[in-house]
Amino acid sequence: MPIPLPDPPRTVWAAAGHPPSVRIIDQRQLPWRLVVEELRRVEDVATAIRDMHVRGAGCIGATAAYGMWLAAETGCPPDRASALLRATRPTAANLAWAIDRMQHEGPSLAAAEAIAEEDIAACRAIGRHGMDLFECRRRELGRPDSAPLHILTHCNAGWLAFVAIGSATAPIYASHDAGRPVHVWVDETRPRNQGARLTAWELAQHGVPHTLIADNAGGHLMQRGQIDLVITGADRVTRQGDVANKIGTYLKALAAADSGLPFYVAFPTSTLDPSLLDGRDIPIEERGAEEVSWIDGPDAHGSRHLIRVCPEETRCANPAFDITPARLITQLITEHGACTANEEGLRQILPGGMPPVC
Ligand code: MRU
Repeated sequence: MPIPLPDPPRTVWAAAGHPPSVRIIDQRQLPWRLVVEELRRVEDVATAIRDMHVRGAGCIGATAAYGMWLAAETGCPPDRASALLRATRPTAANLAWAIDRMQHEGPSLAAAEAIAEEDIAACRAIGRHGMDLFECRRRELGRPDSAPLHILTHCNAGWLAFVAIGSATAPIYASHDAGRPVHVWVDETRPRNQGARLTAWELAQHGVPHTLIADNAGGHLMQRGQIDLVITGADRVTRQGDVANKIGTYLKALAAADSGLPFYVAFPTSTLDPSLLDGRDIPIEERGAEEVSWIDGPDAHGSRHLIRVCPEETRCANPAFDITPARLITQLITEHGACTANEEGLRQILPGGMPPVC
């Protein structure tokens, strides 16, 4: 019997029965099938994060939090659970942040639920602050209310990348829902195609007008005046506002700077790593070469296949993230408001200033 999604939908949740489990949307199946996967052991949670059944900074963090609770429920010592989960993916700050918090507060279901609920609330607030910036941009361009704002986004920083709502998509959904027309250019985001598979699916489900483009088309569209602003998510942000995000983000930021376009980065402060100053110190995940040499999807009859896209003997490299330096970012957008991408800007909006380094 397929497990239904909760209402409202979310990417990860707990089933606190006997036996207890963590339930996730298996994002490897989207956009072709919406499948809920049930995880019964912390080892399964670690596999789901490492092999990207779940992905996206906020979703990884919340899933790890539920994994710590599941470990406690099933008799796995917290230190072992923490080590297993921490080893899954190195770049997104939310992973270690959520595990640290569960260790500090105790791995209860209430603590995991609090992390998930805060993620949702932060994304909702990002939507409000981001929409204000979109409205400023609309006024700056003198765009009539009836005409769409054209927005480029990279990868998937949508509700699938969090517990719900999303970071970069939050102002898009907020604008659309408020009747402020938007049109989204969606980068396909090779090699795993999170844009084509996940962002396009989300926007289609929500009824947001969008157009899928090959990763290399963005610069051309910017030069032609077909993009009004760029907004992406973040996997880790340093104290000085450097941003690690999906590979290819840096090139979009360079092109946006050359075309004089605003480049916004939206993230909840659980993605902020106050222990790092320089983005070049962020660990960059190197994923399997097969993600580059093969591409997967269904044929016309719906059967899923892997297709090789290069010669057998060609060696492939797969750095999964890149660093966009703060100087290329127009504003950072967090749940506490928007700010200039530097230490002073962040300090001004964070209640209590920059968090201490643990
Ligand atoms: O490798 P992923 O899919 O986990 O990468 C994360 C992303 O989808 C993006 O980098 C996103 O913009 C930031 S996560 C909210």
